[in-house]
Amino acid sequence: MTFDTSSTGESVATALASCIKGKTVIVTGVTPGGYGAETVRVLALVGAKVVLAGRTLSKIQATMGAVKKEIPGADLKTLILELGSQKSVREAAAEVLAYDTPVDVVILNAGVMGTPYEKTEDGLELQFATNHIGNFLFANLIIPKLLESPAPRVVAVGSVGHFWGPVRFDDYNFEDGKVYDKWLAYGQSKTANILFAIELAELYKDRLLAFSLHPGGAATSLNQHMTKEDYEKFSDFFNSDGTPKGDWVRSVAEGTATQIVAAFDPSIVGSNGSYLVDAKLAPEQAAPYATDKDNAKKLWELSETLVGQKFRP
Ligand SMILES: NC(=O)c1ccc[n+]([C@@H]2O[C@H](COP(=O)([O-])OP(=O)(O)OC[C@H]3O[C@@H](n4cnc5c(N)ncnc54)[C@H](OP(=O)(O)O)[C@@H]3O)[C@@H](O)[C@H]2O)c1
Repeated sequence: MTFDTSSTGESVATALASCIKGKTVIVTGVTPGGYGAETVRVLALVGAKVVLAGRTLSKIQATMGAVKKEIPGADLKTLILELGSQKSVREAAAEVLAYDTPVDVVILNAGVMGTPYEKTEDGLELQFATNHIGNFLFANLIIPKLLESPAPRVVAVGSVGHFWGPVRFDDYNFEDGKVYDKWLAYGQSKTANILFAIELAELYKDRLLAFSLHPGGAATSLNQHMTKEDYEKFSDFFNSDGTPKGDWVRSVAEGTATQIVAAFDPSIVGSNGSYLVDAKLAPEQAAPYATDKDNAKKLWELSETLVGQKFRP
């Protein structure tokens, strides 16, 4: 089976239904209108048990209500997870570890983009903390539950925006904000998503699969921090009203296809750690600094330091 730009999350999930039915999948960042919400919907459609994880209960419930309306028998539950707080991440992970069934797949979809400079309660720049460190901690803490599955996968939703910048190993906090550039910071965090999948795959080899991906460009609430100046600066990619334009535009339905392929396609198992775009493997579309194995190791060690815990198989 091959998938491409014409695929949607629903068409991929339907094609891979036999791999998805009955599996437990945690999807983070399920706000209505975004990739996560559509991922929940298409997984539920083919009989997955889906855990809707996020920081805003009302938004989780809105997505849950919409999915239940369409699929009354959907097996859904909620998980409160604030990725910008290591305390919250640890509490959410403890809840997952108490489940009485394995977790087969976690799709780390939640993220923020282009936020003004802010440090989290753990002292980390907000985009790096939310988009990478929170994911790193959550995924590692729930690995025992994933390893109970016969075919566990971790999917890190990255972005073509990783081209905006590498991980700033010596200054991930932008000199405490003095030299902050919100696009370099988004780039850093999305580069980290790709490196994270590489090192996770390297450490766990055939015991666990990890993939990263770019879903496409769609107008979602991710764009809430973009200003008129940002749209002008990136006028090749956005219209003046903030809607994406050009070759990278994918509807939410289309972008979701890449998430489902990364999470379930059996034909990619031989490419553990790889990056996907447009519902297929596309490692050549990642920046060299985002696929560098030394950078992946270095980021793992830095992340362990920043969460105060070592994670090795
Ligand atoms: N849209 C695009 O064009 C595009 C392009 C490339 C990559 N992506 C990636 O796709 C993923 C999904 O984005 P989207 O476009 O679907 O936007 P979205 O609908 O805004 O999804 C982002 C989700 O992340 C959640 N979130 C933000 N901060 C969080 C935190 N601290 N803790 C827990 N959850 C948090 C949001 O929850 P709240 O609503 O409660 O804040 C929301 O549910 C992101 O990783 C993004 O980088 C998107």
